[in-house]
Amino acid sequence: MNIGVKKNKKFDLIVWGATGYTGKLVCEYIFKKYKKTNLNWALASRNKYKIDGLISSLKLKGIPHFVADSNNKKSLLKLTKMTNTICSTVGPYAKYGTLLVEACIESKTNYCDITGETHWIKKIIDKYHTKAIKNKVKIVHACGFDSIPSDFGVFYAQNKIKENSGKYASKISMRVISMKGGISGGTIYSFLNIIEESRKNKNIKKVLNNPHGLSPNKDLFDSDEEDLKKIIFDSTSKKWIGPFVMAAINTRIVRRSNYLMDFKYGRDFIYNEALVFGRSALSKFLGYFRLIPIYLISKNNNTLLKSLLKSFLPKPGQGPKVNSRKNGYFKFRFYIFNNKLRALVSVDGIGCPGYGSTSKMLAESSICLALDEIPIQNGVLTPSVALGNALLKRLEKNADLKFKIKFL
Ligand SMILES: NC(=O)c1ccc[n+]([C@@H]2O[C@H](COP(=O)([O-])OP(=O)(O)OC[C@H]3O[C@@H](n4cnc5c(N)ncnc54)[C@H](OP(=O)(O)O)[C@@H]3O)[C@@H](O)[C@H]2O)c1
Repeated sequence: MNIGVKKNKKFDLIVWGATGYTGKLVCEYIFKKYKKTNLNWALASRNKYKIDGLISSLKLKGIPHFVADSNNKKSLLKLTKMTNTICSTVGPYAKYGTLLVEACIESKTNYCDITGETHWIKKIIDKYHTKAIKNKVKIVHACGFDSIPSDFGVFYAQNKIKENSGKYASKISMRVISMKGGISGGTIYSFLNIIEESRKNKNIKKVLNNPHGLSPNKDLFDSDEEDLKKIIFDSTSKKWIGPFVMAAINTRIVRRSNYLMDFKYGRDFIYNEALVFGRSALSKFLGYFRLIPIYLISKNNNTLLKSLLKSFLPKPGQGPKVNSRKNGYFKFRFYIFNNKLRALVSVDGIGCPGYGSTSKMLAESSICLALDEIPIQNGVLTPSVALGNALLKRLEKNADLKFKIKFL
């Protein structure tokens, strides 16, 4: 079956970090879903023995594979010169990701990843946005649970509301109604790395705390929304809500999308996210317990307590078991305002958000980037700006995401 527009290089796509926990899931998904198509893909990692093991355990017979080193640009250039798109799951990205982006831009190769490391994305924007535009390359971060459901939830909601009323929404509040899933060692390592780097460097803390940290000029905006830092009663959902840890990246990506589209949604467009705890006083009380682990890891300097906590958590390469990946899910609700509440959008996903669902979102993003008719804009982009309706269709058709709108 022919599935897209073939371009000039040997491969359509190379998955980098194929031997990691998420990398394996991405390879497994692509192999099963696209084996009867003309997709020409390969995988790569730093360790030949692990790749051989992966090929035999997943029965990836016939898929070409390569070895490279994230600290050696020459070895990365060999990879990037062979392919139209690189899909990277090698993190923490702030530690291992920069040279690969540089190699992609030099080789005119599109790139996507699942980083949620805001400070690193900011570094990539500052260093490479202009070069990527000049070389006609798309660098697309955050193609996983952070931040596709948020970025595409807003993209979908804004397009529907514009079609219906002729105007974009002035405010959207996203509420996480429920979610179930696990966490991998690689994600914990990346999260701890952000905390460590921001302790050493005050500028990183500033970027993380800035609601418009990924949009170049804060003064351009009329209004800002700080992330929610405590538990409050929410007049929108009529429930107790509290901080949603992913809001720190998702809201920045949504605001950057608006910025990259010349403020299509308005300079004073407001977007916020929160986690719903429930209606009763008990749910508020239980909400505090749900926040304790995050508080302990991020605020506490006690290294003994930290190492004790870490000893219970998965190590790099480990993550949720098959059942937890399959039985996981998430349900997001977007409250759409134009002066008053106009519509409610739901974005629901099947599969553990960070892995079962993320691996499908990332795989579809990378194939979309390699083969589909997508917007012409280049640079360091957000998923919705880079991939638009082409990815929205793939998410619904292949990645078990459901988008629905109810006008009020
Ligand atoms: N946005 C989201 O929703 C989302 C969801 C899941 C994960 N993530 C992020 O994705 C990243 C990967 O997570 P994971 O759980 O899959 O991690 P993991 O299992 O530890 O895998 C990391 C991968 O990076 C490779 N690697 C590590 N250091 C390297 C180096 N110096 N050079 C080359 N390769 C290197 C590892 O190679 P080896 O196999 O040889 O060790 C492995 O393939 C993390 O940053 C995590 O935060 C984001």
